[in-house]
Amino acid sequence: MADPMEAMKKEFENRIIPPSWKDRVWEIEDYRKFHEDTIKDKESIEKWWEKWANEIFWFRKWDRALDDSNPPFYRWFVGGETNLAYLCTDWQIEQGRKNKVAIIWEGEPVKENGEPVEVRKLTYYDLYRESNRIAAMLKDKLGVKKDEILTFYLPMIPELPLFMLGVQRIGAKHSIVFSGFSAQALAVRIMDAGARYVVTADGVYRRGKVLNLKAIVDDAVKICEQEGHKVEKVIVVKRAGNEIPWNDSRDVWFEDLMADIGKNVKVECEKMGSEDFSFILYTSGTTGRPKGAQHSVGGYAVHLYTTMKLIFDIKDDDIFWCTADIGWITGHSYIVYGPLMCGATTMMYEGAPDFPDVSRWAAMIERYGVTIFYTAPTAIRMLMRFPEENYTKYDMSTLRIIHSVGEPINPEAWRWYYRVFGREDVVCSSTWWMTETGGMLTDHFPGLGKIIPLKPGTNGYPIPGVRMEVLDDEGNSVKPGERGYLVISTPWPGMLMTLFKDPNRFIDVYFGKYKSKGWYYYTGDFAMFDEDGYVWVLGRADDILKVAGHRIGTAEIESAMVSHPDVAEAACVGKSDPVKGEIPIIYVVLREGVEPSPDMVNELKKHLRATLGPVVASDAVITFVNTLPKTRSGKIMRRLLRAVAEGKELGDVTTLESEVAVEEAKKAYEMVK
Ligand code: WT7
Repeated sequence: MADPMEAMKKEFENRIIPPSWKDRVWEIEDYRKFHEDTIKDKESIEKWWEKWANEIFWFRKWDRALDDSNPPFYRWFVGGETNLAYLCTDWQIEQGRKNKVAIIWEGEPVKENGEPVEVRKLTYYDLYRESNRIAAMLKDKLGVKKDEILTFYLPMIPELPLFMLGVQRIGAKHSIVFSGFSAQALAVRIMDAGARYVVTADGVYRRGKVLNLKAIVDDAVKICEQEGHKVEKVIVVKRAGNEIPWNDSRDVWFEDLMADIGKNVKVECEKMGSEDFSFILYTSGTTGRPKGAQHSVGGYAVHLYTTMKLIFDIKDDDIFWCTADIGWITGHSYIVYGPLMCGATTMMYEGAPDFPDVSRWAAMIERYGVTIFYTAPTAIRMLMRFPEENYTKYDMSTLRIIHSVGEPINPEAWRWYYRVFGREDVVCSSTWWMTETGGMLTDHFPGLGKIIPLKPGTNGYPIPGVRMEVLDDEGNSVKPGERGYLVISTPWPGMLMTLFKDPNRFIDVYFGKYKSKGWYYYTGDFAMFDEDGYVWVLGRADDILKVAGHRIGTAEIESAMVSHPDVAEAACVGKSDPVKGEIPIIYVVLREGVEPSPDMVNELKKHLRATLGPVVASDAVITFVNTLPKTRSGKIMRRLLRAVAEGKELGDVTTLESEVAVEEAKKAYEMVK
């Protein structure tokens, strides 16, 4: 792949204006001024966010928008009381949306002719009733307490958002684990959250097969037990009707639990403090241990509401489709809470973009008249490999905004997306944000009534109310067009409150790098600005990979590898990939007496799948060496291994202990290339 930095720099001056927006464009200087006015000082930041906070429902309004007396533990809308479930259901009904479709769900399998077999449409009233019933069940049958965390291992079925709303209603919290994670990864997350209850499904359809989720949960529960943590109940939603292992004293069907809960049961909505927490979501860091990003109630709600308006320009007649899985933050924020608190119709689907063929998404856009579409660059690059007729034979003219997220979008992919999905007349942008930021932080702002010009591959401008900077290692600002580290130098409402049970790690990881300079949120990303002040994120600056948009630490992969009895040492680096963005290359040193072989590769892949899950395992490349290149003090020189995989110059090798290891790595890489 071309050097992403050079490819993006070529686009700095390339201002694109979709024809239907030609009379609604900011002069960049005007936007710059408008933006600057919202971040001048603490008061202007507060004023900007309060304007939006005033548009949503509160049981009690806040006393102070931002309490920054104990940085970096910023508190937003202090004294305010609201509830995410109330915002997404009760409040919508109060505004007259009772019979409006809230969620359209389309399942797999899909018939030969591309028509869906199963579609469920839930109105706001349906959401209200069912989440009330779930809340009643959680409270009365399971004795779930306010502040208790429940772990979810559910696929993309409507019961997942229903459960989320039920949990929020009673003030409990969810920890949702992506259903592509392994039993081991699930177990670690169940134990860390101390969850008594795990909610799962029997199975799920994916690419024409049924995956047995319940069996994975059973393995996870077993691991928990061995470690001394007891899971009291596993609640199973029936989806695929597949055969599953069953333990009478522990497992219970969701439908049995719900059978005698009245159809119109009402559970009073907990009045949550704005600064209570609403959920945790685990994400990868640079060490082996996943981090539980802990999000708030009020600040998170205001951030989502604002960005839905500003960036998606959400209106009552929109059909909004974010293709993510709810197991990731993108799904939490922009399938469930964001769209629902705006009274939108949000789509969710079961399956994959390339089954039964690559037309599935285009067909769905036509079928439901989708107007706003949000997906990942890796999916766009996959679709790009097939003839355009696969997509253009469907009518996608309803689309007016199409965005991407998860990793940088190369200009070529942007152009394809803008042309083939967007017929060169939509707002098309790459919105930058992270699990930790709660919601989007950059864009072109159609919701302001006028946009800043599009540029292929850019992330646009920081949103109003938020200041970003690009710094070098010493904390100096770098010039436009130069690469540095992206930092956020003002607090924003959606930001994580802390890391679950680990406030010190929170401070170290996010605010440690520029400690001597002040409280700068360190993103871990490389980025540059252009002369217009647009942000261009280039990729991770740390040992985190983005594999098909999924975030995974190389340390997690390495510790998974060395947990295999035949592995002595392992080093993982990322190599750029034209479709996946990055793929993990793992150099493995086997124990004495164990011989490298194709069987060994398969065995290790199986092990990787069992410890981390298929997302990582399916793309990983494993190769064998006798030694790893190390410094004289014994640190693995990953930089060299990456250079080998990328076929690049090795750079400075003066600290290298032995050249032999690099030669070996080269040979090993040749074998698997
Ligand atoms: C990392 C966060 C919350 C969105 C889903 C990913 C990368 C995310 C972009 C973008 C370039 C992006 C960054 C970031 N990233 N969006 N539009 N352009 N890079 O959330 O798994 O927490 O990953 O994804 O590297 O730090 P995540």
